[in-house]
Amino acid sequence: MKTDHILYVCINKKGGKACIGPKSREVFRALRKHAKERIEEDGVDIVVKRMECMGYCGEGPNVKIHGGPFFHEVTEDDADSILDVALKCT
Ligand code: FES
Repeated sequence: MKTDHILYVCINKKGGKACIGPKSREVFRALRKHAKERIEEDGVDIVVKRMECMGYCGEGPNVKIHGGPFFHEVTEDDADSILDVALKCT
């Protein structure tokens, strides 16, 4: 089954130091939480997945929208705005 919108978060345990720390896991959890809320409230089709290294190891936490842009130095507070962009990407 095809998912309309996919977000990837680098939480590579062996990669760049910006991706290893707790901040990447916090970003991942925040995106999953906010995505779940939108799925339940708005019926959107979106999934947040873990990824190992996007090649921006010094700029993490890093997020990539499938078919869309990268986001660097992401914080939990960015989750909603990133989801807004993801839902506009096909
Ligand atoms: S380890 Fe995260 S971008 Fe390289």
